[in-house]
Amino acid sequence: MTITSPRQQARRTYSRFDSPGWVGKVLIDALGDASAGRVLDLGCGGGALSLAALSRWQVSELVTVDIDPIAGDEIRQALTPEQAATHRHLRADVMSFLSDGIDGLRSGSLDIVISNPPYRMARWTPGMAPILERAGLPACTTIYGDVPVDMIFVAQALHLVRAGGSLGLILPDSVISGVALAPFRRALLDKHRVARVIQLPRRAFKGTDAQAYVIVIQREGCSTSVQLDRILADGSWLEPVYVGLDQATRRMDHGYHRVGFPKVIAGQRALRELGVVATRGNLSSVQIASSQTPTFHTTDFPTFTGSTVTLPPLTLLRNADIWADAGDVLVARVDRRLERKVALVAGGTARLSDCVIRLRCPLGISERVVRGLASTQGQDQLRSAARGTGARHIAMGTLLDIVV
Ligand SMILES: C[S@@+](CC[C@H](N)C(=O)[O-])C[C@H]1O[C@@H](n2cnc3c(N)ncnc32)[C@H](O)[C@@H]1O
Repeated sequence: MTITSPRQQARRTYSRFDSPGWVGKVLIDALGDASAGRVLDLGCGGGALSLAALSRWQVSELVTVDIDPIAGDEIRQALTPEQAATHRHLRADVMSFLSDGIDGLRSGSLDIVISNPPYRMARWTPGMAPILERAGLPACTTIYGDVPVDMIFVAQALHLVRAGGSLGLILPDSVISGVALAPFRRALLDKHRVARVIQLPRRAFKGTDAQAYVIVIQREGCSTSVQLDRILADGSWLEPVYVGLDQATRRMDHGYHRVGFPKVIAGQRALRELGVVATRGNLSSVQIASSQTPTFHTTDFPTFTGSTVTLPPLTLLRNADIWADAGDVLVARVDRRLERKVALVAGGTARLSDCVIRLRCPLGISERVVRGLASTQGQDQLRSAARGTGARHIAMGTLLDIVV
């Protein structure tokens, strides 16, 4: 019989991944010398963010909220008697409508809200619409009708903080750079001031591979540009990058925009400007296994990035599937190391797996495209454009932004 500790149980049930102390310090430092006042920690867990706040600011009242029944005792045990005197803990579900007035949590009643929400999806319910609406944020649900839980936490935090007050949040890759959440980023940038986004090293949190970011938002402030930072695994910081609102709507990760700079190199153009057309293959792994005609999957890429592949001879049995032909450039769409999977079709033809993207190039530029993508600079761009944990993936729109 396997015995699970209450913390392991909470990790499974509530996606509880506690912040290491240094992440709490980065978040609080990024908020600057806020003269504090009333501070709320939404999804406080063991209180890593609250403790970092208390060690830096004069907090007149600390309110902590968590759904996990053990969180309240944990945080109370971590506080000194003086800190405990001005602390209140509420066990509440942040996904449900927090009506004004419940335990003093009124709209606009907090000076600062800090939060590291759980990174998971929840089933959309009609009760979530007013939570997003009152914060001026659009609902971005998946085709399955799921909603990112972190999006609801952001909306609740915006509702509870006063105008001019600050939010310090730790958010996942999807909010910062996912294509589906671009309207959510736009609304945040239009209505509030997104001051800073700090890319944390991968595996900053024990037990998860998630790529996370610290984001600092001032309610109803005005964004003109956003400062993007990045901390590497050895703890060093890269030079910041400043992006305008349109660029920040597209993505807010330092890695992507820093590598985007090769655009200034004379003669280089984005693939879309060169007229390259990207098409995703359409065969699932089950279809590949039972296919009678030649197929090309991520496992078929040549060992050397950017070299040529010769596919089986032209077949007369072509159907409406996506086929690769001589002159096409193939790029892995999903793979752990997709930046290494780039090839030029020298001849022959094959149907493509849905993990492969075909780049069809105007006459005479296929060589330039494959050379550009396989170069160190091209691989850097592919690496930074790819998203996700484990097997990484690249969106076709982002792929076409790469310059060669
Ligand atoms: C990623 S952990 C962060 C914990 C802590 N803030 C930290 O940074 O160490 C997310 C926290 O949110 C809590 N949580 C998950 N779902 C919640 C919900 N619906 N309402 C309130 N808290 C929730 C979990 O119990 C967990 O403590």
